[in-house]
Amino acid sequence: MITVTNREHQIQVTNRDESFTCDNDSLLLQGMEKAGKQAIRVGCRKGGCGMCKVKVLSGHYQTLKMSRAHVSEQEEQQGFVLACRTQVQGDLVVESDHFALTPVVSPLEEA
Ligand code: FES
Repeated sequence: MITVTNREHQIQVTNRDESFTCDNDSLLLQGMEKAGKQAIRVGCRKGGCGMCKVKVLSGHYQTLKMSRAHVSEQEEQQGFVLACRTQVQGDLVVESDHFALTPVVSPLEEA
């Protein structure tokens, strides 16, 4: 007899003092919403806005293709990811709220 188990992983969001469980291989942002939590900002859910940017402090995960406009190669190596493009593959400890608007400098301010 073959038994298929749906493994769940524990996600801890340190800066929000929140935690929730996420199914194996499900997207981090989707898992959070399914659990009814608001520990990570939700935007487009498609990798386009950068609102869900978090830093993974520990744990196993895999990312789908992410926009370099929101996560640079260097940031990716440091653990920054877009939660809507990250598949959970183990218990994770993350820090949310890493979305930042690029400051717009008007020509008058530069002079
Ligand atoms: S919600 Fe827009 S990039 Fe993740």
